[in-house]
Amino acid sequence: MAGGEMKKKLWIIANWKSNMTIQKALDWISQVGPKIEKAEKLEVVVCPTFSSLSEVKKEILVGNFPIKVGVQDLSPYPEGAYTGEEAASLVKDFAEIAILGHSERRENFSETDEMVQEKVNKAIEAGITPLVCVQSTETPIPEKAQLLAYEPVFAIGTGTPDTPANAEKVAAMLKEKHNPDVEVLYGGSVNSENAKAFLEQNNISGLLIGKASLEAQEFVKIIQACLD
Ligand code: PGA
Repeated sequence: MAGGEMKKKLWIIANWKSNMTIQKALDWISQVGPKIEKAEKLEVVVCPTFSSLSEVKKEILVGNFPIKVGVQDLSPYPEGAYTGEEAASLVKDFAEIAILGHSERRENFSETDEMVQEKVNKAIEAGITPLVCVQSTETPIPEKAQLLAYEPVFAIGTGTPDTPANAEKVAAMLKEKHNPDVEVLYGGSVNSENAKAFLEQNNISGLLIGKASLEAQEFVKIIQACLD
């Protein structure tokens, strides 16, 4: 891997979206957990729904598995009278990372760049690392964001990923635009066949995986492909 020595740990992040019952989530942890004990160069993160967050966290602690837990969204507001919202200070005991600004939230829930910035602020105040999804080099990058995921909309859930070469170009441009130290992940139709090609790019520091992360065996295969 040219220049790979310069990279920190590679992020492999499972975004379960609105999927997985508690039982399925626990089965997944029990299948994936024991397989990644030797994955020292990887930082594996699972982002379940809020309803299974606490059970997933408990299962990981009991198994002593090297898996971090994240959430898929956060409230832009503090604790208080905000029905239905999950304040950063309430989830910080479970989650170390928060996926913010995903295109599905921007599109289906009218999330604006200003809201994403506010969510990033709340995450940082609570000690949660924000993982900000950007759809292109045109997407405004929130101040203080240190972890980005380049996720072109055409590639999400379509089976048609971007090319590793283009993802590398975009990652380099994002660093130039924002901060050379920002880490950039790629997401969009990643699977066990294509994962390694993205990670071999100098400016790509990990993967954000939706559909292919739901199946424990496929996720384990992705991890193995990244370790080869
Ligand atoms: P996908 O989703 O892997 O199913 O394309 C990725 C994402 O939306 O984070």
